[in-house]
Amino acid sequence: MSRSATPRAFAGLDLLATSVMVLDDKLRLVYVNPATESLLAHGGRLLVGQRLGALFSNVDGFENRLREALAEERGFWDQNLNLSRPAHETLYLNCLVTPVELPERGLMLELRPIEQRIRAEREEHQLTQHLANRELIRNLAHEIRNPLGGLRGSAQLLERELDRPELKEYTQVIIKEADRLQALMDRLLTPHRLPHTVTMNIHEVCERVRSLILAEFPSGLSIRRDYDTSIPEFQGDREQLIQAVLNVTRNAAQALLGAGGVKGGAEIRLSTRVVRQVTLAKRRYRLALELQVIDNGPGIPAEISDTLFFPLVSGREGGSGLGLTLAQTFVQHHHGVIECDSQPGRTTFRILLPIEPAAAGA
Ligand SMILES: Nc1ncnc2c1ncn2[C@@H]1O[C@H](COP(=O)(O)OP(=O)(O)O)[C@@H](O)[C@H]1O
Ligand SMILES: [Mg+2]
Repeated sequence: MSRSATPRAFAGLDLLATSVMVLDDKLRLVYVNPATESLLAHGGRLLVGQRLGALFSNVDGFENRLREALAEERGFWDQNLNLSRPAHETLYLNCLVTPVELPERGLMLELRPIEQRIRAEREEHQLTQHLANRELIRNLAHEIRNPLGGLRGSAQLLERELDRPELKEYTQVIIKEADRLQALMDRLLTPHRLPHTVTMNIHEVCERVRSLILAEFPSGLSIRRDYDTSIPEFQGDREQLIQAVLNVTRNAAQALLGAGGVKGGAEIRLSTRVVRQVTLAKRRYRLALELQVIDNGPGIPAEISDTLFFPLVSGREGGSGLGLTLAQTFVQHHHGVIECDSQPGRTTFRILLPIEPAAAGA
């Protein structure tokens, strides 16, 4: 029998996106579908005829279960199958095993990569969340912006009628604050302004943020630099990235200084690293950069940790809850991701930004 030919019985499986392989009663591959070929990065001709144990290095236990399944003619479900091969990344899989008649006894294995599924779910979730955020912000910004014009105009009219000049101080507060809010609302309503992309260095961003924060919080705080200066320049919108990192770092400073002192001194660390071969927002990159803002403060309050990036979620007296939403929006404009990991004594915000795409087809 020619093993490399697709047995007719399996022809329909060729079209499946799910990886399927069929084993005979000696646990040799008699068929793999194209999805499996790409999962294993090997042509079917090389795979068919091989024993499972010859292809993968750690399948003794799995083979035993397969033999039992053959003997008892029943299927099983392995939710955590790891397949390792020399010189290949280990595959983490969900595997459904079903007995088949070949006509001799055999087994059909359906393989689903786990990481991919979980990652896809997480990204999907993040995206939905982000869209909901945007919608909410837009509606809110419209609601706030409309009465602002009226407020400002009325303050101006009032100012003209005031005969005591010292009262103008108050109308000026109204006018200035209305202008500030107006500018904020404009920013929120136009997150789609064309990005002003330039060739830039991530350390310009870090240094700028460092000096702004130190000016804003002149005492009781140290900001340590931990830079990988070999990170190449990349294309980005400098103002947006400064704003994003500033929002994250300012939160850290506020948490540190609001905590009533930190044992051993309040410290923020700005750390940069190169990351190779990552997938960000479903795209693969050869090179990316990782910027972490780490503080030794009290940590994110548990009740907001799940909704941290939502608009209007704040754990602070007088907070707007927009800082992290904006930071996320700006990072996403750069096709990057922002994540948070927090416990008392150590809170890390991690921003990943792509630098170089993977080669086509890789
Ligand atoms: N590094 C941090 N340590 C502790 N809490 C933090 C940190 N960063 C953010 N937070 C919490 O997340 C909340 C949301 O932050 P943000 O979106 O910037 O809104 P705002 O600063 O206006 O409250 C903050 O109010 C704070 O409770
Ligand atoms: Mg903030």
